[in-house]
Amino acid sequence: MKNIVILISGGGSNMAAIVRHAQTAHWKQRLGAQVVAVISNKAGAGGLAFAREQGIATAVLDHTAYPSREAFDAALMAEIDRHDPQGQPALVVLAGFMRILTPGFVAHYAGRLVNIHPSLLPAFTGLNTHQRALDEGCQFAGATVHRVTPELDHGEILAQAVVPVLPGDSADTLAARVLTQEHLIYPRALERLLAG
Ligand code: GAR
Repeated sequence: MKNIVILISGGGSNMAAIVRHAQTAHWKQRLGAQVVAVISNKAGAGGLAFAREQGIATAVLDHTAYPSREAFDAALMAEIDRHDPQGQPALVVLAGFMRILTPGFVAHYAGRLVNIHPSLLPAFTGLNTHQRALDEGCQFAGATVHRVTPELDHGEILAQAVVPVLPGDSADTLAARVLTQEHLIYPRALERLLAG
């Protein structure tokens, strides 16, 4: 079985879209793949309730309880690997996981770590992507699914979606338009990876 662990920090709508797609597209039967755990660095993350309702194991690791980024990432690796019998989840999926990862973490999951970022990379790495796109007068915005490398928001692009920037858009209205597309491209990009 190809086990998938999803990391979140908040609402978890991308995680929910992946879980729902895995069900409707019969990942278990067709691809031998399943979401085995959802892990959050924030206890209040809304997505945790959804995961529990789906019968998926959940865990919270509060990064503020660790003395260093390395210590947190080491604990996170142990928690992730605990959810796979071989200690080697097929995919570790970052879905709104708002943490910068250490090189050691990225190396541990080399080739198995993917992220979604709310911009058309390589434009607008980092935070506040939608406001920055509006400030630059961009006519299009979007989202990118990419492999994770030690450099923030870099790595091979696996999928992108483009949306128009509309007159009167705020960062919030643009973010909502982009998010609907994230929910479409992320599950499909993962499915392509799982299908090899
Ligand atoms: C999504 O828009 C995702 O692309 C973004 O956070 C949101 C999480 O929403 N990720 C990043 O900004 C990563 N740097 P969700 O929790 O509802 O999936």
